Amino acid sequence: MKLSPSLLSADFGRLAEEIRAVEDLSAFVHFDVMDGHFVPNLTIGPPVVNALRRHTSVPFDIHLMIERPAVYAPRFRVGPADVITFHVEAVDPPAEVIGVIRGLGCKVGISLRPSTPLEAILPYLPRVDWVLVMSVEPGFGGQRFVPEALDRIRELRELIGDRPVTIAVDGGIKRENVRQVVEAGAEVIIAGSAIYAEGDPAAAARTLIAAAEGR
Ligand code: DX5
Ligand code: ZN
Repeated sequence: MKLSPSLLSADFGRLAEEIRAVEDLSAFVHFDVMDGHFVPNLTIGPPVVNALRRHTSVPFDIHLMIERPAVYAPRFRVGPADVITFHVEAVDPPAEVIGVIRGLGCKVGISLRPSTPLEAILPYLPRVDWVLVMSVEPGFGGQRFVPEALDRIRELRELIGDRPVTIAVDGGIKRENVRQVVEAGAEVIIAGSAIYAEGDPAAAARTLIAAAEGR
């Protein structure tokens, strides 16, 4: 299992330090980009994400919860190890967004709300590198894990078969349920409040990894 700590629950006044606190334990850094339209919350955008580049060498996992991903994706500075994920429910046609993100030279991720049927992303599976399964309604950290997500992960695992598509899961993951999420088929675990709402992010990340591995 790979950990992608979500900065949404970190101290926004000390983002570089918050990234570095768990750097050795992180496969990615998860950025929640929200526009106040696609979701009822506003967070950070390209200037903040790009400025954090020089503070870490960990790849970026950029989660776009915005209406116009095709317009804004090119404003992020990315390389081959980074991922930009957009939502299938966004206004821009998914096929167009995939083309735009692919053209940036990074990995392409597609995500869906808990209420969106899995069928919505199936046509795009051959063209993406990862699927981000939302296990809470996108918009805020610290929400409760939607248990139906486990069946969705299993179903997606089957649908992906031996295609090289990574399953990432985002929302409500804690030490109590992380093992189940991994056993269902998740390869990347995104966790915000479980890491940053604790006093010691590194200790919390280690606990989460141990729980994921059944220790
Ligand atoms: C929610 C975000 C998540 C959020 C997860 O819209 O996409 O990345 O930070 O936070 P927790 O782990 O607290 O549910
Ligand atoms: Zn997210």
